[in-house]
Amino acid sequence: MKEALVDILACPACKENLALSSLKREGTELLEGVLSCSCGRSFAVTRGIAHLLADTLCDASLSSGCPSGASPPSPVTPPPAATRQQGSRSGDCRSGKSCLVCNCYLGSAVQVELCRSCTAKLLRQGLNKKVLSGLYEALELRAKSNTYTDYTISDQFVEWLAANRGRDARILEIGCGGGYLADTIRREGFENLLASDFNARVVETAVGRFPELQGVVMDSALMAFAAQSLDCIVSVEMVEHLLDPEVHFDEVARVLKPNGVYLLRTPNALAASIYYRMAGRYDMGIWHPTTFSSASLQESLHRRGFEVQHLAPRSLPKSQQGKLPRLLKFLGSIPMHRVPLPLRPSICIVATKHG
Ligand SMILES: C[S@@+](CC[C@H](N)C(=O)[O-])C[C@H]1O[C@@H](n2cnc3c(N)ncnc32)[C@H](O)[C@@H]1O
Ligand SMILES: [Zn+2]
Ligand SMILES: [Zn+2]
Repeated sequence: MKEALVDILACPACKENLALSSLKREGTELLEGVLSCSCGRSFAVTRGIAHLLADTLCDASLSSGCPSGASPPSPVTPPPAATRQQGSRSGDCRSGKSCLVCNCYLGSAVQVELCRSCTAKLLRQGLNKKVLSGLYEALELRAKSNTYTDYTISDQFVEWLAANRGRDARILEIGCGGGYLADTIRREGFENLLASDFNARVVETAVGRFPELQGVVMDSALMAFAAQSLDCIVSVEMVEHLLDPEVHFDEVARVLKPNGVYLLRTPNALAASIYYRMAGRYDMGIWHPTTFSSASLQESLHRRGFEVQHLAPRSLPKSQQGKLPRLLKFLGSIPMHRVPLPLRPSICIVATKHG
C-alpha cells in the first residue's frame, strides 16, 4: 500500500487515527508495518496489504488484524471444506459439485454450493460474519473464480467514472472478489484506487492477480476510513451478502466526501426470488440474506441524504444472460432502459451524497 494512505485510514472500531510503525518499505510503498490506535488495537500491514478488521471478524488463522491478546470467537460450524477438490469426495471420481461444508456430492448440473442439510444447519445456527467469510474463502479456493471472474464487470460504472470523475479521485471498491472490476477502473487511469473485501484470502488473491491494486481487508460495516475521506465507493453484487446493510449505508455516508458517490449494483428482489426458485437455489438464504427492491434501496439511501440515479445497462450482463432459460434468451439483448425499474434483474445505482 502507498504510505500516504495512512493519513485517511482510521481504526475500524473507534474511528480514531492510526499511527504507523513501519518495518519495511520500498520507495513510497509500505510493505510491512503495524498501525496502532490509541484504543489499544493494532493492525498489521503484511506484503503491502492493510488488515483492518475489527475484533468480531478476527481469526487466529488470519495472519493479522487482531488486537494483541484478543481471543478469536469460537466457531459455530465446522470449518468449510475449503481445501478439498471440487467434485471429488473421498473415493468419488464423479465430476460435478460437492457441498462446500460437508463435501457430500451434489450433482453435476446443480447451481447450489451447499447441501440441504448444511443449509438448514447454518440457518438454524444463525449466520454470522465469521462463518460467511469462511464460506467465501472456501468458494474462492475451490472455484478460483466463483463470481470472481471478469464476467460481472460493470461496464457502466467504469464508463460513468471515466466520464464524471477526475483521475485523482480516491475510489474504494468494497467486496472486490477477484479484483477484476478494480483493475479495470485502475486501467482507466484512476491510480488512487483501493480494493477491499472482508476476507483476507480473497484480497490476497486479487492483489496476487493484479499486483498494481492496493488491497485492504475490511468489513463493509466497520469501515477503516476517516470521515469524508473518499470520493467514490463502488460495490457490485455485495450488499445482498450483508447481514447489516443499514449499518453499511451509515458507514458509506460517513466516509464519503460531500458530493461523493456510491456506485452500487445488486440483484432486484423480485427477479432474484423468481430466479432462485426456478434454478432450485435453496441455499440463497445463506448467500443473499438481504435483497432489495429498487424502492427499498432508494428509500435507504434517501434517508441518509443521497440523491439516487438509476443506470440502465445496454443489455443484461453476460453472467445473467447465461442464467436465462433457452426460450427466454431473447430477453438478454433488450436494452434495460426499456424495462420498468421493478422488473429489471439488477438494481444499478449512482447515489450522490448531498454537498
Ligand atoms: C458475489 S461476490 C462479488 C465479487 C465481485 N464484486 C464481483 O462482482 O465479481 C461478494 C463479495 O463480497 C464480499 N463480502 C461479503 N460480505 C462482506 C462484508 N461484510 N464486507 C466486505 N466484503 C464482503 C465477499 O467476500 C465476496 O468477495
Ligand atoms: Zn481504536
Ligand atoms: Zn453439506
